[in-house]
Amino acid sequence: SWGRYRNPVPATRPQEAPSVSIVDQSRDGDILVLTINNPPVNAFSPGVPEGLKAGLDAAAADDTVRAVVIIGAGRTFVAGADIKTFNLPREQAPDLRGTIEALDAFPKPTVAAIHGTALGGGLELAMGCTYRVAVPGAQLGLPEVKLGVLPGAGGTQRLPRVVGAQKALDMMLSGTPIRATEASQLGLIDRIVDGDLLSGAVEFARELADARPLPRISERAVPGASPEVFAAARGGIKKTHRGQLSPSLIIDLAELAATVPFQEGWAAEAGRFMQAKDSPQSRALRHIFFAERESAKIPGITKDTPTTEIRSAGVIGAGTMGGGIAMNFLNAGIPVTIVETTQDALDRGLGVIRRNYEATAKKGRLTQADVETRMALLTPSLDMTALKDADIVIEAVFENMDVKKDIFTKLDAIAKPGAILASNTSTLDVNEIASVTRRPESVIGLHFFSPANVMKLLEIVRAEKTSDSVLATSMALARRIGKVGVVVGVCDGFVGNRMIHRYGDEARKIVEEGARPEDVDAAMNTLGLPMGPFQMSDMAGLDIGYAIRQHQARVAGQPAPDGWLDRIVERGRKGQKTGAGIYDYDETRKPRPNADMQRLIEDYRAEKGITPRAITPEESTARLAYSLVNEGAKILEEGIAQRAGDIDVIYIYGYGFPAYRGGPMQYADEVGLKTVVADLERYGQTPAPLLKKLADEGKTFAEWDAEKGRG
Ligand code: 3HC
Repeated sequence: SWGRYRNPVPATRPQEAPSVSIVDQSRDGDILVLTINNPPVNAFSPGVPEGLKAGLDAAAADDTVRAVVIIGAGRTFVAGADIKTFNLPREQAPDLRGTIEALDAFPKPTVAAIHGTALGGGLELAMGCTYRVAVPGAQLGLPEVKLGVLPGAGGTQRLPRVVGAQKALDMMLSGTPIRATEASQLGLIDRIVDGDLLSGAVEFARELADARPLPRISERAVPGASPEVFAAARGGIKKTHRGQLSPSLIIDLAELAATVPFQEGWAAEAGRFMQAKDSPQSRALRHIFFAERESAKIPGITKDTPTTEIRSAGVIGAGTMGGGIAMNFLNAGIPVTIVETTQDALDRGLGVIRRNYEATAKKGRLTQADVETRMALLTPSLDMTALKDADIVIEAVFENMDVKKDIFTKLDAIAKPGAILASNTSTLDVNEIASVTRRPESVIGLHFFSPANVMKLLEIVRAEKTSDSVLATSMALARRIGKVGVVVGVCDGFVGNRMIHRYGDEARKIVEEGARPEDVDAAMNTLGLPMGPFQMSDMAGLDIGYAIRQHQARVAGQPAPDGWLDRIVERGRKGQKTGAGIYDYDETRKPRPNADMQRLIEDYRAEKGITPRAITPEESTARLAYSLVNEGAKILEEGIAQRAGDIDVIYIYGYGFPAYRGGPMQYADEVGLKTVVADLERYGQTPAPLLKKLADEGKTFAEWDAEKGRG
């Protein structure tokens, strides 16, 4: 009986009563309206399929119902399958496919009324309906590829039948949604509703209530399908999705849509979906989906923590970092005052910003008017007092404590009360910087990654005295300028660079023991990193690491370091910027191994009495990945990062670690911490106590995060 579903269900339904439907039934004359009410995003959670099926049963049994409208309560239509249920056994997972089968077989018209986002299973549900209407701002897409899966509820079979093979491939392989207005041109939306969505949908349903036969998508052919289209897509993903499983499955299924009867493709899709869902790649991408959202949560900071609105910004230093940082604000429509010490430096900095924008305009991603609007928001100055009205000032000068202290002392005298004083330092002690001001509670580290206008990561360095309000404002600001902000504590290098230093040390050691730099880089490329350790250090500039190593030796009272890489730098080879480093470079910036450098390394080994041995790519990968993991474990123990997931987010967005590996900590979980510990010991590294403990207990970092989250 469907009677028990009849009453509207209050939004705050008791958790212990799962039999209560979260799909509300209501009547508008001869139309039955089913409202899915599963906040925050109406994901297809347990209860939703039961509620929808009950609604369909009710509509089928009642002759006075001529058509059904399905709509989402709150801010959106269904945003997809409930990703949290992906780990459930198949029998317990919500039956999205069964619901869509019921819709497809339904004898009366069904209309999906879409606002917000119809994503993944949400769009599949809508395509199972007879018709779709939407508000102009709605977005529709199949983003499953971003989670390492594929549309598993008919999307691979229905979308090509509606929008054609090419467009469907584009949408499913990119995962990028399209606007309702475009969807309407493609025939994916039957009517755009400008006014109230529900009344528009009911009106539409009434108009077409008696139209027969029902135009079912499953009965159509795929337009524009040819073997060439699928061959081209297979070629394309070799570049865009190297090493990934789900994109090739998506292409196979889209091809099936064009070549076999619907039922056959529909059945094949179910199997491929399970295959993708159960892969390490999908586990990794789902981990990152939740880790990214979790990283925005900071114990002690709530919705009620006061924040200030950032209406204007100041940047000190118009070099590469300062300019890039300024661009983030300009892009978000926030005026920036940028300060330099000489007119020359100021002119150069402004020139670079303008050229960057013009290059974007040339690619068609900005109009010339956009360029001018942004440049008009930028005020250059040679005088720090020009920063007196800024709501936030970010210092981006070179890494020298004395210089930074001098700037913050001046800034303290100039900046208005309540202004946030931020340093873009990548290594220095933010507590020490804050100590020269009379308002250490206003001081914070905002560590941008180069190029600062492109890289999505922002390490938000919480110093000892940083106030909650300054922290919360900085998190909100990160979101506003399109960054993923991760809160970290003060230590040398914070999270990202501290780990990368250990990784660099290990990479040099591997070469010292017998590998060639290009072999080590190739091993990491195979893991999915666009750049291996040496390609990366050549790009960043070898002189930076060199200076750090010299400095650390001086501080420790040790002799100047004299590794093989130091010798390369001492020959004036500083990396890409000098056209030569570990590798040689031409205009293409493609690294080419250099025979002299190979000899330098061999001579170095001979001099130190090292007999080179063959090192497999597997050994390189393990040693490098686990050196990150080991340092990451120490960082967790010290509380410098709150969660292993935060470290993974930092590595995905700041260091090019492939998202489909989930970041170093998730990668270690997938390998198994016992194996990680054994390998570290085999290669002469001491496992961090936390890592050892988790391995002994048979646990994962994910479990550690979850236990910590529960307190
Ligand atoms: N399942 C479970 N939880 C989800 C979810 C989903 N599909 N989508 C969002 N959530 C949760 C988030 O984890 C977050 O939870 P939290 O508040 O506890 O951190 C909350 O909903 C709000 O999400 P956002 O913070 O991301 O909110 P935004 O407003 O910024 O974005 C959104 C909304 C665009 C819908 C975005 O959440 C999103 O892109 N979601 C994923 C959509 C997706 O990938 N759908 C496909 C799923 S796979 C599928 O459908 C398989 C099928 O083919 C069989």
